[in-house]
Amino acid sequence: MIKVPNIVLRPGNINVEAEQGSTLLQVIQKAGIPIVSICGGRGVCGKCRVIVVVGTENLDHLTNAELRLLSPQDIKRNVRLACQAKITGAYVVIYIPEESLITSRERAVAPVTLRDDIFPLTPLVRKIHIKLSRPTLKDNRSDFERLREVLVMQGHLPAETDLIIPLEVLRELPSILRSSDWDVTVVLYGNELVSVEPGDTINQLYGVAIDIGTSKIIACLVDLNSGKTLAEDFLENPQLAYGADVLSRITYAEKSQENLVKLQQLLLSAINKLIKNLTKRAGVDQRDIYEVVVVGNTVMHHLFFRIQPSFIARSPYVPAISSSFKCRARDLGVEINKHGYIYSLPVIGAFVGADAVANILATQMYKSEEPVLVVDIGINTEVLLGSSKIILATSAPAGPAFEGFGITHGMRAVLGAIGSIRINDSNVEYETIGGAKPRGICGSGLVDLVAELYRNGIIDSLGRFTVTNHPRVRRDHGLWRFTVALAEESATGAEIYVTLRDIETVLLAIAAIKTAWTILSGRLGVDPSEISRVYVAGSFGAKLNVDNAIEVELLPPVNKERVIFVGESAIAGAKIALKSLKARREVEEVVKTRVKYIELSADPEFREVYTKLIRIGSVKRVKSSLKKYESD
Ligand code: FES
Repeated sequence: MIKVPNIVLRPGNINVEAEQGSTLLQVIQKAGIPIVSICGGRGVCGKCRVIVVVGTENLDHLTNAELRLLSPQDIKRNVRLACQAKITGAYVVIYIPEESLITSRERAVAPVTLRDDIFPLTPLVRKIHIKLSRPTLKDNRSDFERLREVLVMQGHLPAETDLIIPLEVLRELPSILRSSDWDVTVVLYGNELVSVEPGDTINQLYGVAIDIGTSKIIACLVDLNSGKTLAEDFLENPQLAYGADVLSRITYAEKSQENLVKLQQLLLSAINKLIKNLTKRAGVDQRDIYEVVVVGNTVMHHLFFRIQPSFIARSPYVPAISSSFKCRARDLGVEINKHGYIYSLPVIGAFVGADAVANILATQMYKSEEPVLVVDIGINTEVLLGSSKIILATSAPAGPAFEGFGITHGMRAVLGAIGSIRINDSNVEYETIGGAKPRGICGSGLVDLVAELYRNGIIDSLGRFTVTNHPRVRRDHGLWRFTVALAEESATGAEIYVTLRDIETVLLAIAAIKTAWTILSGRLGVDPSEISRVYVAGSFGAKLNVDNAIEVELLPPVNKERVIFVGESAIAGAKIALKSLKARREVEEVVKTRVKYIELSADPEFREVYTKLIRIGSVKRVKSSLKKYESD
């Protein structure tokens, strides 16, 4: 009889029955352990490391990917890549180190610097406390008509309003009116009567704004009577276990309906956890939340609503819906008031989603007479350029380098990450997040490093080392590298360095973003140096050195006073939409009439411009040759 392999996962000694031939990654995911799998199990990122404690002989041989990504010391310590190691025998015990787990610990969210009170407080959901007269034989109007007429009489509803009452609310209405002695609070969602509650509950009216990012989910609990944010929180997006970028998630989701459901459930459980945390912290009952406004890129939007995202990734790159969308929270399983709603802002295109719309709203760029640029830096960087007349939107496949993935000593912006670097001849200075001993280099540190290496003449405009006698430059196993932190300075006891390949990866990420703003500038006929404001959104936050970001052309060559760091600004846009119906309608109209989406991957100029822009200092030469949008 063939024995079912038994895999023990540590820490925790979790026993999982596995199938012969399945990978350790599949087993770990089956156990619900949030392991990092940036490349979605393709053997590219090298982040799904586990240590085999018992049963190395019960796993398949090391694959080529492992031989490439693991060092000889790793191999000696029985480190395997979980996505590569296939089970061939009956019993294996593995240890999953902390750095291979998705964890929010220590992770910082860049503070939002944009205001969310720029519109008058007019939420779509509102509560009205009313007292009704009891019916009599002379006045035996129906319960619903009686209630409706009071609302009209007291000026809460225009007489011509077609007030909608869902069947389940109608069923409850007679008993609630009588048990509360005709003293009730009516909850209106637009022109729909979503709930009737006994007594006066108008003080308990809350909403939640959520930004579903590819790597993290941010949520805010808002008091819809005062407009104040009562609590905010965030979690890593648990879908990270299925790849860091949206394409890996699409690939996973389209394999089966079961996978699609799994990705949605991961989002829902994280969102419900966030809602629970927020309400607990603020002392609010979850049942008093009547609306959740969600924003997120188009793939996150589809996965949240459990819409198959396959067609987003294939030409002609079509989302299922682009207008705003709402549905009952309970139909999705979001744990708020049973009659509450989920509302999503519109999406702009396949790779520019409702989070970009939230940025349009929060920055108010559609009211500017001068051109404004919004760059939301992430794995998929969204770029918007425009003014009150027109806004062009696109996305740049920057990849996960700025999150520290795919870089030898890259890491996210958490405690111990080198966030800024200065090089003066042979002297290297750096600062870490939280002042801790360095553990790696995060996105802002990588931008600094490339700029400083270039300024000091250590690399050329293509990132190649031009100096070999610098004390920090040396060759190891045939690869040139630059040491940022010496072994004795680091938290790990090992040198923290970048290789030539790392520098090239950062230059490619920068090139993707500058290609986006260069092409958009060309299409609008705007010289990048004339852009009046540059909003930098995303987790870089104010840690990014503006001079260096401009030097390596991550940002256009504007006066640095015009660069504004707005942090995770999409959440500010979501809050504005939650608090103001006027704002919601305004931005819906802007998206419909003034925003034009440009699919860069289908743009004939993209490849050509991108290739030219990999070189630092290349923007000037490229920009004049671009086509204008009007001529399309
Ligand atoms: S190498 Fe295993 S998930 Fe990327």
